[in-house]
Parts: sequence; C-alpha cells; structure tokens
Amino acid sequence: MKSSNDFWKTLKNPFFVLAPMESVTDTVFRRLVKELSNPDVLFTEFVNTDGLCSRGKDGVIHRLRHEKSEKPIVAQLWGNSPEHYYKVCQDIKFLKFDGVDINLGCSVPKVVKNENCGALINNPSLVKEIVLATKEALRNEIPVSVKTRLGYRRYETQKWGSFLLSLDLAAITIHGRTVRSTYAVPSNWDEIKKFVELKNEINKDVVIIGNGDVTSYKDGLEKQKYSGVDGIMIGRAAVTNPYIFSDVPKNYFLNLPIKEKIEILKKHAKMFQDFWQDEKDFRVMKRFYKTYFSGFDGASEFSVK
Ligand SMILES: Cc1cc2nc3c(=O)[nH]c(=O)nc-3n(C[C@H](O)[C@H](O)[C@H](O)COP(=O)(O)O)c2cc1C
Repeated sequence: MKSSNDFWKTLKNPFFVLAPMESVTDTVFRRLVKELSNPDVLFTEFVNTDGLCSRGKDGVIHRLRHEKSEKPIVAQLWGNSPEHYYKVCQDIKFLKFDGVDINLGCSVPKVVKNENCGALINNPSLVKEIVLATKEALRNEIPVSVKTRLGYRRYETQKWGSFLLSLDLAAITIHGRTVRSTYAVPSNWDEIKKFVELKNEINKDVVIIGNGDVTSYKDGLEKQKYSGVDGIMIGRAAVTNPYIFSDVPKNYFLNLPIKEKIEILKKHAKMFQDFWQDEKDFRVMKRFYKTYFSGFDGASEFSVK
C-alpha cells in the first residue's frame, strides 16, 4: 500500500537532491547548502539500525539530528536485521522525517563484508523482509525508498531492477555503478536509462532518481534528459560547489574571490560551533577547509565510524 503523505509525488520535475554523505552531510552542512542553493530534497548521513538498537545508541543518533528548515528530509538507514528496522522506524515516526530510505548500495569493504548495504543486492529475500518491516512500522504514514547500485559484481539491471520495482517503493535512487566498481569507473547512465525503461514497463508510479558523477546543475539536466529519471542526486560536486543547486556554472565556487570563500567558511564554522558545541569534534571542519581551498577527495576519505 502507498503512503498517504508521499512528498516524492509533490516535487517539481526534474528535482534535485543533496546526496547522503557520511561525515559530510550533517544538519549543519545541509542547512548551509539549503541556504546557498536550495536543493529540493535532503538526506541524512546513513545511520546504522543495529547501533540505534544498542546500548551505544548515543554514538550514532546524532546523525538523525535535523532542524525545521530542512524540508523535505529523508532519514537514511542501513543494517540487515528486519527487526531492528521495525524498532527504529516505530520511533522515527516521531522525529518529523518526510521519508525513510534504506541503503542498498554502500560499497565500503567493512560494511559489505558484514552482509550490509551493497551486499544485500545478493540477498533479495532479506531485502524484501527489511522493506516489509520498515513499511509495517511506518504504517504508510511516511514513504519508503531505497538507494542502490545496479548490481554487485556486474550490471544486473533487469534482474535486480525488476525485483526492486516489485516492492512498491515510493522512490528508488540509482547510483550507476556496481558495488565492486570504484569511483575510477564512471557512473553508467546507459544502465540508469535502461532501469527507467524497465520501470515504465513494470511500475510507472515509482519515482526514480539518478546519481553518479553529476558535475553541475546543467550536467544534471542533461543526464536527466538522457536517462528519463525524475530527479538528480548530487554528492561530491555539492561539496566542492555548495551553490550547485542554483544553476551556477561548474567552477563557480572554485572561482569565487578568496574573501567570499572565507566568509562562507566562517559562517559554516560558526553554524557548526553553535549547533554541535562539544558534542562533535571541531576537527570535522578540517575537511571543509581543505575542500573550500583545494578540492574534495571524498571517496578516499570515506570511512565508517
Ligand atoms: C564521503 C562520502 C560519504 C558517503 N556516504 C554515503 C551515505 O552515508 N549513504 C549513501 O547512500 N551514500 C553515501 N555516499 C555515496 C554518495 O551518496 C553518492 O552515491 C556517490 O558519491 C555518487 O554520487 P556523486 O558522484 O554525485 O558523488 C558517500 C559518498 C562519499 C564520497
């Protein structure tokens, strides 16, 4: 059954999404990007359902912190226990999220080795249980989506796609790589296009978001036109250019006068300090200093704590 509050159906076409990025897209960065260029949808960093159900809950729950201005916002969860999804989603209902997303794509070795995220592509029956448990807990009050890749070792767009489209999800984000391909392999927008064609045959109602290697707003529009997706998700390019969602040229941020960049960095640092105070180590801001002045090497820095 579909959610009665499905914000995915109310978005403009095409719409733009700020991607979930662990240790990057916390509430402070999301609000900064929202203020500078106003993406249509925001995601939290991924949050571990086992962690949220454990005694160490306090160490992960900060990832769900968000403010009223962050709308619409989707909580992204990862884990492989349907019971934990059920438990977490019973509580999440009260945290004012507009959507819940299940991570079926992360390729970080430590995560995949423990049969999580991208590894779940090889375990569709467990994925089905997880989706059902999530939907049951949310009682159709909040739409459920997934973010995934198009195969584990090789593209399995037809097989994996048909399965996902049978789950009656509100939205599916496709990162056009396999779990085994690194950032050195380009995101495959031909496969994303095939996936859109498949959904047009099987389940037209599902909202599809394309992701991977979008370098600017204009590039996003071109990729959207080519593939037929409903929305475009941008990750790394939003860190090197937080103005990206306002249709500025590709190198807009890079070419800003240094004084302006310093002002934005100061604002970001102040927002960080005001919000997190002693809760989060201020050294997290270091990666942004580097990014603002010399680019972002996010893929190599991506670690799971
Ligand atoms: C530092 C970093 C952290 C990431 N964390 C997450 C995450 O928490 N959840 C998720 O689904 N994807 C995560 N990703 C993947 C991105 O959301 C996105 O799918 C990927 O970077 C491709 O998009 P892009 O080329 O626009 O960056 C992360 C990527 C990076 C670089």
